[in-house]
Amino acid sequence: MPDPTPRPPARATSLRPLALLALVAALPAIASISTADPPAAKGKETLVGGAPLFDKWPANQKPDAVIVFTGQTFGLLQPCGCSRPQTGGLERRAYFIDTLKAKGWPVAGIDLGDLYPEKIAVRDQGRLKYIATMNALREMGYIAVGVGKTDLAGGLDTLLGAYVLQKEQPPYTLAGNAVGLDNKGQVVPRLKRFPVTPGDTRPLIGLTEVADVGAVPVGVAGVVGKALKEEARAEKFDPSIDFDDTGAALKAAVAEFGNAKKKPQLTVLIYQGGSADAQKLAQDFPQFNVILCQATPNAPPPLMPVQVAGKFHPPGQKTLVVEVGHKGQHVGVLGAFKNAAGGLDLKYQLVPMGEEFITPGTDDEARKKNKTLDILETYAKSVKAEIDLAKDYRRDPHPAQIHAQGLNPKVNLTYVGSDACQACHVAEHAQWAKTPHGHALDALENIAKRPSLRQFDGECVKCHVVGFEHQTGYQDEKKTPHLKHVGCESCHGPGSGHVANPKNKQLTELLSLWKQGIVVEAGKPPVKMPDNAFMEKMAKLGPEERGKEALAPAVQLTLNLVGGACMKCHDQDNDPHFDIYKYWPKVNHSGLAPKEGWPAVAPKK
Ligand code: HEC
Ligand code: HEC
Ligand code: HEC
Ligand code: HEC
Repeated sequence: MPDPTPRPPARATSLRPLALLALVAALPAIASISTADPPAAKGKETLVGGAPLFDKWPANQKPDAVIVFTGQTFGLLQPCGCSRPQTGGLERRAYFIDTLKAKGWPVAGIDLGDLYPEKIAVRDQGRLKYIATMNALREMGYIAVGVGKTDLAGGLDTLLGAYVLQKEQPPYTLAGNAVGLDNKGQVVPRLKRFPVTPGDTRPLIGLTEVADVGAVPVGVAGVVGKALKEEARAEKFDPSIDFDDTGAALKAAVAEFGNAKKKPQLTVLIYQGGSADAQKLAQDFPQFNVILCQATPNAPPPLMPVQVAGKFHPPGQKTLVVEVGHKGQHVGVLGAFKNAAGGLDLKYQLVPMGEEFITPGTDDEARKKNKTLDILETYAKSVKAEIDLAKDYRRDPHPAQIHAQGLNPKVNLTYVGSDACQACHVAEHAQWAKTPHGHALDALENIAKRPSLRQFDGECVKCHVVGFEHQTGYQDEKKTPHLKHVGCESCHGPGSGHVANPKNKQLTELLSLWKQGIVVEAGKPPVKMPDNAFMEKMAKLGPEERGKEALAPAVQLTLNLVGGACMKCHDQDNDPHFDIYKYWPKVNHSGLAPKEGWPAVAPKK
């Protein structure tokens, strides 16, 4: 656990809400993508629950069919975050599936849905993520995907138009109880609302799909559960889409399996509902061998599926209710082994997508081996081509910009760039230039290679430049070259007012908004961060020992507020190791003022 705010301030202080907003409000968690992936950890064996993969599976029998279960990846094409280690990502999933195929196992995939991001700044980017995910799943041999809440919120028609309408191709979207609503509120049957388009054989949204996996015909059905149906109505994701009764759709699915040319030997239900509801369905529909359901919120995916043996189940048979967690961090692997009685024995293995599944080799070698890397590169190119960093992102005023509007006379604060500060703050600038902040955008250009072009992706750029989410902040390399990297104003806010008028106290104060909550006693010097010696001493202590170190309440509060400001970028996803005690000394630039103070007029060069 990162521990930037080890102790609460000892006394409540009068924080102005705006300052709080500016400094401690965390950015929404975004789908951020990792960095240069290191080469695969050689010889590292994956252990799950302390045991090697597949060690409970028959040792000298190959599975007759293997299904990889995934879902709720939420547009995370890559592991989320900038710091290692992170789990997940489509590249690793594809490489992992290849390792199974290399054993001679016949493998197919089934995905629950929720391919579209949970949160996205620019909707078009959500669509590009959806396309990339579907292309990657197709290359991995997926049969079908479900329809989840994020897919509905992202605009189901747009998403279908972006993939399946282009060409009839797997994975097929299954949500058998989806229907339309016309503008009078009358139900439009699924096959009218999501029809078979001319030249195709399948509707845009189907009920079932049967595919051979090895020599085992596998039947897949998909439905949306009642809770999601009600949420979709309440949230009005799309008033022209609704969902029928789940049970009726499932009866129809079972009938379709019965009438299929090749009767499925293994049946899977993609169920967009929670585990408890899935277990009830398993009672009523023992025809399904496996139900893939939504992940239980805030819980790691269970190592083993829940086994349901309802009163309708034939003796000895159970339905497995499978959950695989969120964000593509895990996949569930089902092995079907033909038994002497002519049936199938089912085995299960949960697999976290760790670094050992990074495609080995140089970037070029890896790309030849793993098609997903090409798909990600295509995605990065489309983001660059279709999304305009300068125009498509929302820009809110920085809290200092709001404050400055209230000054008399009011001031329109703009970002001016670190070079402008250098003119008077030579030593601070030199200190800053030595830190990784001074070249933070280069990491996107030079380190991130799978895929590349991340300097054109706002989801990455926003923490690697100055003021991306604020008015007059970074737009792109051509329009705002002076705002590249994590500059002075990434922490201090837009500085045009202070640069033009360094002696104006109010404008200078706006550069340290975090101090606004701190009450300074009359006649005392301003409160500052503790010095490096203290920070470095604390860095070595555990949380309990840290708690015993007494700091003046105002200093503690400063520390907490500054730490909160850092964590806008050094957040849980991107830097889970962040610790203000360890990090501040590395970027500290206090006490560097010339003896006579900073010049009020920029010295001539
Ligand atoms: C023209 C010279 C000049 C420029 C350019 C300049 N500063 Fe300053 N800066 C000063 C002076 C003078 C002070 C001291 C003001 C005072 O004590 O009232 C100061 C004070 C500060 C302080 C407050 C220090 C404290 O005591 O709390 C910060 C922070 C700061 N500057 C940041 C910046 C940043 C960021 C930029 C670029 C956006 C910048 N300065 C550009 C002259 C300048
Ligand atoms: C919420 C803020 C945030 C976002 C969004 C973000 N980063 Fe970062 N990034 C950071 C921070 C903080 C660090 C420093 C982490 C550390 O020191 O461990 C970092 C470091 C990096 C590094 C350097 C790692 C190294 O080994 O030197 C790379 C490369 C990188 N990020 C790439 C990306 C890419 C690619 C994206 C978009 C997919 C992205 N970042 C999005 C905050 C962010
Ligand atoms: C990572 C965030 C961050 C960046 C980047 C940053 N600063 Fe600061 N700066 C701070 C914090 C936090 C303080 C307050 C330190 C304290 O209370 O001792 C500070 C303090 C200062 C001070 C007051 C120093 C003193 O001796 O009291 C000046 C001047 C300053 N910064 C200028 C700059 C300039 C110029 C740049 C860019 C070249 C810059 N800062 C970049 C966070 C940052
Ligand atoms: C605008 C986003 C942003 C803010 C705010 C920010 N950082 Fe960073 N920081 C980054 C990025 C991005 C990197 C990685 C740069 C790279 O590796 O190229 C980074 C890297 C660092 C590193 C180097 C880490 C390493 O592994 O060597 C330190 C130390 C650091 N930041 C400290 C801080 C502190 C302390 C604060 C708050 C006072 C802060 N940062 C605020 C974005 C930010």
